[in-house]
Amino acid sequence: MFKINENYLKLPGSYLFSDIAKKVKAFTDANPDNKIIRLGIGDVTLPLAPAVIEALHKATDEMAVKENFKGYAPDLGYEFLRSAIALHDFKARGVDIAIDEIFISDGAKSDSGNIGDIFDVNNKIAVCDPVYPVYVDTNAMSGRTGEYQPDLGKWSNVIYMPCTIENNFAPQLPEETPDIIYLCFPNNPTGSTINKAELQKWVDYANKVGAVIIYDAAYEAYISEADVPHSIYECDGAKTCAIELRSFSKNAGFTGTRLGFTVIPKELKCGEVMVNSLWARRQGTKFNGAPYIIQVAGTAVYSEEGKKQTKEQIAYYMNNAKVIKDGLLDAGYSVSGGVNAPYIWLKTPDKMTSWEFFDYLLNEANVVGTPGSGFGPSGEGYFRLTAFGTYENTLEAIERIKKLGSVTT
Ligand code: MLT
Repeated sequence: MFKINENYLKLPGSYLFSDIAKKVKAFTDANPDNKIIRLGIGDVTLPLAPAVIEALHKATDEMAVKENFKGYAPDLGYEFLRSAIALHDFKARGVDIAIDEIFISDGAKSDSGNIGDIFDVNNKIAVCDPVYPVYVDTNAMSGRTGEYQPDLGKWSNVIYMPCTIENNFAPQLPEETPDIIYLCFPNNPTGSTINKAELQKWVDYANKVGAVIIYDAAYEAYISEADVPHSIYECDGAKTCAIELRSFSKNAGFTGTRLGFTVIPKELKCGEVMVNSLWARRQGTKFNGAPYIIQVAGTAVYSEEGKKQTKEQIAYYMNNAKVIKDGLLDAGYSVSGGVNAPYIWLKTPDKMTSWEFFDYLLNEANVVGTPGSGFGPSGEGYFRLTAFGTYENTLEAIERIKKLGSVTT
């Protein structure tokens, strides 16, 4: 008889956003006339920018012509896109990243899950708590965690770094030494950031203890404050300890189009082994690349028009963030995030648990958010709203929440 990967049996329930979708479906089936406003999953609502659409059309037409047709993409991705990334995302910020240190992919979610393939199962991981569930679940799937402890909402054999109001939602260096450290800034779900000096401490620590940092910078385009780094490679020594994940989903609306990339500097080594070569080997074997037309569309994000248009989209979402934040503050909520990130993190009122507040908002205001406890035990008593809705819906959602009355937290 064949055997399954029993690690999958250790996983609790389904993926957070699938649980939420099921609850919302049950509510809409029972209340078909109610207009639900979804500020739950961080999915964009604005259409792709005109410069991106134009590039998509052009590339699609090329595919119809024998001389221009493209089959499999190069393993690492097309050079035209990798050069644009190296120039605009890194060189423009004073960081030298070579194009063969950039691996184009279909998004940061898959890369953050797949990156574990190249690391030994006995590495110990450290994650922020609350945390984007993909990091933990994928490590559980590959057997790098212990058991899930439902009473604690935690996995054994994982180092949790609590991010709470007391530490301004910034993780502290852990007491126990990890091998792999997951950091995400601007943070999903709390919307917090750390400044360059603080990030430098993590880089110095990782280099000292011989850990690798998986740095998820999917939300870097939302940074508005000058002292917040856009890339971990702005810190000295990061090339010997860090892998950076980037996405086109949040900065250019590619959630349904799928495009991202991972940076692995050649200086990142385990003994004599270059981690970059392992990832190249892994991707060459298991991945056939992001589609040509999508890579062309991604390159258009870096054109003058593309930059201008996507910047306007980000400003639109950040205006929503302000509407949410100001509205909630007015109503007496305790709120953070929403300044360098499209997520607003609020304390649930009246000692409600995160899921109680989820049900309350869904039933009373027909607004969907994400329960903080779904991101980890330190998220209990918190709730996340995204700024990725339309302006009109965002405004209406906040009006509805305000109508529920002022709260004390
Ligand atoms: C979220 O809501 O946390 C994001 O949509 C997750 C993701 O980007 O996969």
